[in-house]
Amino acid sequence: MLELKGRKVHKSIEPELGLTLLDHALKNEVDWGFSCVRGTCARCRCLVSEGMEHLAPPTEEEEDRLEPEELERGFRLGCQAAVRQAGAIVVLHKPYF
Ligand code: FES
Repeated sequence: MLELKGRKVHKSIEPELGLTLLDHALKNEVDWGFSCVRGTCARCRCLVSEGMEHLAPPTEEEEDRLEPEELERGFRLGCQAAVRQAGAIVVLHKPYF
């Protein structure tokens, strides 16, 4: 199960392998700010509080855009982080502003 927590809308959905967190939010109408979809604006930034092991490792774009400490604390870019296997994942949209 994938739990997506937007600013207003929270939803638990069945994740689709290969889709990004942002793809899931858009498909399921969870409010999730974004702009570039290329890993540069960070408007889609989010905090993965559970199930990081079910996501693909950070992309080069995420490594460039996020600080190492952010990655360590569980921050990801929603437009980059793809679900790679089934399991419980909890994600909170947490842009800088
Ligand atoms: S939408 Fe710009 S970094 Fe994800």
